[in-house]
Amino acid sequence: MAKPKVVTVLSQKGGAGKSTLTMQLAGGLARRGKGVAIIDLDPQETALRWAHSASPDAPFPAPVRPLDGDPAVLPQAVKALGREVGVVLLDCPPSIEHPATLAALQAADLALVPVVPSPADLWSTKGVERLILQVQASRKGLKAALVPNRVLRTNLAWDVLEVMRDFTLPVLGASLSQRNAFAQSAVIGGTVYQLGRTGAEAAREVDKLVAEVLKLIGEKA
Ligand SMILES: Nc1ncnc2c1ncn2[C@@H]1O[C@H](COP(=O)(O)OP(=O)(O)OP(=O)(O)O)[C@@H](O)[C@H]1O
Ligand SMILES: [Mg+2]
Repeated sequence: MAKPKVVTVLSQKGGAGKSTLTMQLAGGLARRGKGVAIIDLDPQETALRWAHSASPDAPFPAPVRPLDGDPAVLPQAVKALGREVGVVLLDCPPSIEHPATLAALQAADLALVPVVPSPADLWSTKGVERLILQVQASRKGLKAALVPNRVLRTNLAWDVLEVMRDFTLPVLGASLSQRNAFAQSAVIGGTVYQLGRTGAEAAREVDKLVAEVLKLIGEKA
């Protein structure tokens, strides 16, 4: 199989929604029949625990692996997974100083930065953006975008764009709202697609996100 497409999910601020975005994206890609796997680069092991808490009759829809060894082995780990899947998602630790974050960015075709449209998150995103722009200076092929997360439905779409207008990186058209379904899917070790009607609106948001991501990494929808 060809080299898999790598999507790195990173942010400086803890709790911005990296693991949520990674897990839901995996669910949405798997639903479209895309072979997808996750490498959990965060020592907190959120993605690994999330998948591990699934019940045996409803396993998480994608394999989640730890990184065995130093971040320097990431390219080999991605290549090895490429024999099984077409897309590898990298869930990063909440620090841009962590060596795994830089390695994940170096390996990426697309970097996604979840941003909660609040002042603290916006400030910390400036640092992530600087790092991504630096890497892009030497790796022209690296695409990157901000993904609004935990958007309150009282915020109109233009409101979110307004607070994010100071960034150089593009903001995805898709975003995730603040919804119980996103938190609830972690409890069942699954994704919003498994929550039936409770997860329907969240699933629609993830579908939109998946479509945009596929386009950005040059994969068929
Ligand atoms: N769109 C959302 N709606 C509701 N809850 C959300 C949403 N996104 C994230 N959360 C909740 O916020 C918390 C933090 O999310 P998550 O673990 O995905 O962030 P993270 O960036 O991976 O955190 P860390 O930096 O610790 O790795 C979790 O409890 C999660 O369920
Ligand atoms: Mg996380």
